[in-house]
Amino acid sequence: MSSPRSSPTAAAAAPANFEELPIEIGVESDDTDSSSIGSDFSETTSVSSSVFDYVYENGRRYASQRTGKGTEYLIPNDETEQGRLDLMHHMWNLLHRGNLFRANVEDAYKKKVAKGESFRVLDLGTGTGIWAIDFGDQYPKAEVIGVDLSPIQPHWVPPNVKFEVDNFEDEWVFRSKFDYIHGRNLTGSIKDPARLFKQIYDNLVPGGIVEICENHVTGLYSEDGTLKEDSALYKYHNLLSDIGHKVGQRMDISPEMKSYVENAGFQQVDEFKGKLPVGAWPKDEALKTIGLVAQEIVQTGVEAFGLAGFTRVLGWEPKKAKDFCEQVRADYNNRKIHKIYPIFIVHGTKPAGDCSDSE
Ligand SMILES: C[S@@+](CC[C@H](N)C(=O)[O-])C[C@H]1O[C@@H](n2cnc3c(N)ncnc32)[C@H](O)[C@@H]1O
Repeated sequence: MSSPRSSPTAAAAAPANFEELPIEIGVESDDTDSSSIGSDFSETTSVSSSVFDYVYENGRRYASQRTGKGTEYLIPNDETEQGRLDLMHHMWNLLHRGNLFRANVEDAYKKKVAKGESFRVLDLGTGTGIWAIDFGDQYPKAEVIGVDLSPIQPHWVPPNVKFEVDNFEDEWVFRSKFDYIHGRNLTGSIKDPARLFKQIYDNLVPGGIVEICENHVTGLYSEDGTLKEDSALYKYHNLLSDIGHKVGQRMDISPEMKSYVENAGFQQVDEFKGKLPVGAWPKDEALKTIGLVAQEIVQTGVEAFGLAGFTRVLGWEPKKAKDFCEQVRADYNNRKIHKIYPIFIVHGTKPAGDCSDSE
């Protein structure tokens, strides 16, 4: 992994290898988590005066139908969502102690720089571009491109970072191949994963690296049985799974990422399985902080993931959808439910000898 540029403090970063044991539960002062994190969002400037025609629905703003043609991305792109994405970046930083990746990107970068060449990076579904910007800052000899359906990235970015508004499932027309292709939190964004990973493979140089980092959105569980199958929270995640299947952009795909990467032809494929606690219930102070950040993320995440799916896909009345989201939020805030999202990070390397499609 990379050495962090601005690591979280030792107290806030996740303890090493905590994933291997059950997470210890702390003393419970009351039943409800109220987050101490109020406005810890980054100061990303939104490009809300975009030329694209946004879709407004149930108080949320969604990507333009024009760029998003052919996709069923059901999550908004408004400022509330942008705040959620930036906070999620902070959460990943805490969870991975400031590292932006797990693959051996550092060595690949150094080799390219030693040859006087730039290290080309593509960030798929870049969102607010916060990962791409951090990468560009940390690796000044990299050339980073972030692609997204929505033009929600800031204008003021490092000179080696640029953003393009596009559908990453369309045919790619980049001027040259990449050394590293990264995608994070793409659950519910991919219609044809086999084709996407083939396209990633074809657009990497021999020896190039792919890395996908996902929290398994529909895989919420508890280690002690406190998440009950009859709870709104449990039902909510099953419904998200159903909605993803209905629209053909699955939200339960994270555990299969490894096989998609392998089937595309990548080698040295590695899958890391981690844990993301939600709420202030862990005893460990660092995990408690991470749990609180996750708790804040899900406050708006409930509607971000659910609202369009419930109304557009399942045909619910907006009031029913909002009331249900409220019940889900109450479960999220119930400190007696010791919620954990599984995390999957998969990376693989294009064989160095595969020059079949290189320039
Ligand atoms: C949950 S966000 C994750 C953002 C970012 N990767 C991060 O981790 O901060 C998913 C992003 O993928 C984008 N997206 C979804 N489908 C896409 C597609 N077919 N082509 C390009 N971007 C897409 C969405 O607009 C959204 O910004």
